[in-house]
Amino acid sequence: MKQRTAYIRSVGRFLPERKLTNSDLEKMVETSDDWIVTRTGIRERRILEPGLGCSHMAVPAAIECLERAGVSPEEVDLIIVGTVTPDMLFPSTACLVQDKIGAKNAWGFDLSAGCSGFLFSLSTASQLIESGKVNRALVIGSDVISTIIDYTDRSTCVIFGDGAGAVLLEACDEPGFGLLDFMLKIDGGGGEYLCVRGGGSRIPPSHESIDNREHYVTQDGRQVFKASVSGMSDVSVRILEKNGLTGKDITLFVPHQANKRIIDATAERAHIEEEKIVVNIDKYGNTVAASIPLALYEALVERDYDLKKGDYLLMSAFGAGFTWGSALMRWWGC
Ligand code: ACO
Repeated sequence: MKQRTAYIRSVGRFLPERKLTNSDLEKMVETSDDWIVTRTGIRERRILEPGLGCSHMAVPAAIECLERAGVSPEEVDLIIVGTVTPDMLFPSTACLVQDKIGAKNAWGFDLSAGCSGFLFSLSTASQLIESGKVNRALVIGSDVISTIIDYTDRSTCVIFGDGAGAVLLEACDEPGFGLLDFMLKIDGGGGEYLCVRGGGSRIPPSHESIDNREHYVTQDGRQVFKASVSGMSDVSVRILEKNGLTGKDITLFVPHQANKRIIDATAERAHIEEEKIVVNIDKYGNTVAASIPLALYEALVERDYDLKKGDYLLMSAFGAGFTWGSALMRWWGC
């Protein structure tokens, strides 16, 4: 059994004020509230005002997280920001956050894994804590996905919303608690089904790339849907089996909020009862890397979900890449 693990000490979030409802979208593209709710479970999403970047949301989420824990920014050793919509190509958003919150003693970086960005970041930070190199890490998921969405394309624009969530990870030295295990996977063969072709080094921004709408997200929804269900259920079931657990042992399941039908199919295959699943997709849509920490925040803070010491928390995600994974945590009420 590991002698030192990482546990979640606190959570924080930022959600833009502006709401984009299904009825707003009915006026923008050929769609209907009924289609969106039935096919995805989404009713509204939040949109950040233009001109404000990823760090504009990551910073208040990080500050709230630290304030809840009573930890000062100087005490943070590491900042990882999961995002596919950084403020700029470089410097990293982690550097911007470090500067804006005054985390004078931290190092950090951005991590790009689409909608799995938070889980990949959480797992990476936990390994640095386990190794003893880091004692305290801010793990943030923040995406202004609205900046790369084509609001004339009904197959993508109804799904996504903006937001940021943060957790403070700290060392837990009571064996058998904290982040017990994670399973992460990538399959670049799925890349073409969900991507932004332009704006990188292969197709740098140009008048032509803009005219071709290559700076926007394109996806084959059906392929992504199928891969999400099989990927998320596979890693959810396998991490439970590997740790000698079943879905019945899980107290709280926090899945990536991509589509209510994907969440339901994953939970069904992992035998997790409905009342244990955190679902907030109706209010925020798919917020990419922010989705899991926003759902965790909602469970712990807004719904006052009482996770007791020893309870099992399961998280799983799927995203562009393809990337996917699960993480299993045993709650440590220190
Ligand atoms: N309003 C009305 N009709 C629509 C809309 C819309 N917004 N979008 C598509 N349609 C139409 C299609 O054109 C199609 O019409 P046709 O049968 O005449 O060709 C019909 O609805 C069915 O289209 P499908 O793509 O088969 O619909 P599906 O049930 O698969 O739902 C959706 C589409 C919601 C995109 C679904 O496939 C999905 O959620 N996929 C996962 C996508 C995703 O989550 N991507 C985000 C990143 S990865 C992740 O987070 C998991």
